[in-house]
Amino acid sequence: MEFAKKVLCIGAGYVGGPTMAVIASKCPEVKVVVADINAKRIADWQTDNLPIYEPGLEAVVKTAIGRNLFFTTDVSSAIAEADIIFVSVNTPTKTFGIGAGKASDLQYWEKTARQIRECSHSDKIVVEKSTLPVRTAEAMERILNANAEHVHFDVLSNPEFLAEGTAIQDLLNPDRVLIGGPETARGRAAVEDVVSLYAHWVPRERILTTNVWSSELSKLTANAFLAQRISSINSIAALCEETGANVEEVAHAIGMDKRIGPKFLHASIGFGGSCFQKDILNLVYLCEHFGLPDVAAYWEQVVSMNAHQRTRFVSNMIAKMFNTIVGKRIALFGFAFKADTGDTRETPALYVARELIEERAHVVVTDPKALDNARRDLADLPQDLITYEPDPYKAAEGAHAVAIMTEWKLYKELDYSRIYASMEKPAFLFDGRNILDVDALYDIGFSVYPIGRPGKSRL
Ligand code: UDX
Ligand code: UDX
Repeated sequence: MEFAKKVLCIGAGYVGGPTMAVIASKCPEVKVVVADINAKRIADWQTDNLPIYEPGLEAVVKTAIGRNLFFTTDVSSAIAEADIIFVSVNTPTKTFGIGAGKASDLQYWEKTARQIRECSHSDKIVVEKSTLPVRTAEAMERILNANAEHVHFDVLSNPEFLAEGTAIQDLLNPDRVLIGGPETARGRAAVEDVVSLYAHWVPRERILTTNVWSSELSKLTANAFLAQRISSINSIAALCEETGANVEEVAHAIGMDKRIGPKFLHASIGFGGSCFQKDILNLVYLCEHFGLPDVAAYWEQVVSMNAHQRTRFVSNMIAKMFNTIVGKRIALFGFAFKADTGDTRETPALYVARELIEERAHVVVTDPKALDNARRDLADLPQDLITYEPDPYKAAEGAHAVAIMTEWKLYKELDYSRIYASMEKPAFLFDGRNILDVDALYDIGFSVYPIGRPGKSRL
């Protein structure tokens, strides 16, 4: 079949895979190829056992795979035939050299840009999908257009705002799609080309076009604002615990102010995920780079508060459990960074597990989707202090404490009388997500400690 347009995405990860599946399902006349250097990932995308868990994803992939959605490891050939190339390779925080711990590691992005240049024999539109520091597009444009005599590249920015667990809904019904491009006739035409893809299903007024730098910075700013709300409410949670106020009531009261709004005000053990911390640190690095140390310090505090929240949670556990947890069995309910995903990148549970093991507790990890990732994440720790157990009831057997790490719905619905009966006494319950009914658990016999609201102790 002849396709009207050919789209390629390099990087078949959490962002690239679902985004391309939705584009392919909504644009049947467009050929969509997803390429990745990881052969296993590419193979898995073509089975019933997709490499990432995302509600609704499988159905969307099934509508298009083999029709106009294809997966390949042959990145070079895919580049040669594409008109529009989305780049969605990972851009982790640098772990070495200048900017280590803050700046983005751009080596995969740059390597990909060079490969695009080498394999291209016709003009291409290259779209940044990965989150990148502001002005990366400009650098990419230079790399791409250097030595490219008969071929021209237009570099656009189209940041992704999808959240894991709701990726398909976010893609099908986005608040907005943002496309940044050069303010030239060519640039505007390239932007319109990408707009025309999304316009298959997104109302035109929700597709925003800006200059490239605004688009790049909007992504970092959106994530910084969202994360800041969580750190802000978590800071208030700490104060609530001292004063006897209830953070849920405070969040509800302030959230009814339309200017504040109710979302992203759940006090928790802290935010995780691949984006928030990375993007804020990126913003911090940019501010420092551009000589704005006070602005940098302002945003860095959002990350510090998040780390403080996790440490505070662990300190509280130790204090309540008579100041020692050596040899005590502690069941962590959930390891994913939030519910409905198997993703554990930057998950608060990882930090909590590490701190508990440093105190020589025996940690039992349970999670409905993330146990494989947990095993990998905790591989460097003494394995005799860790048990991985898919069944939460078994995980709690003989434990001194259960700590809720992820707000999986299933943890609200467990039979806590049964759990209580199988645990060591006194039995402790630390709710890092505020999902449990404190009074009901207290009545069963637990000492219960939620975040930012009064707990109930039997001691
Ligand atoms: C994305 C974005 O790229 C990141 O910038 C954003 O902040 C979070 O989401 P994500 O899709 O979650 O990253 O990353 P990941 O799941 O790691 O997928 C990236 C894929 O790119 C991997 O499958 C990797 O194999 C592939 N890759 C990486 C390449 O194909 N080529 C490379 O050179 C490097
Ligand atoms: C986020 C952004 O929401 C998304 O727009 C962007 O594209 C990528 O980063 P994601 O990381 O998938 O998405 O998850 P999100 O739902 O934003 O949650 C991030 C973290 O914050 C999770 O650990 C979550 O549990 C925590 N969180 C969220 C809270 O602790 N309290 C809240 O009120 C909301």
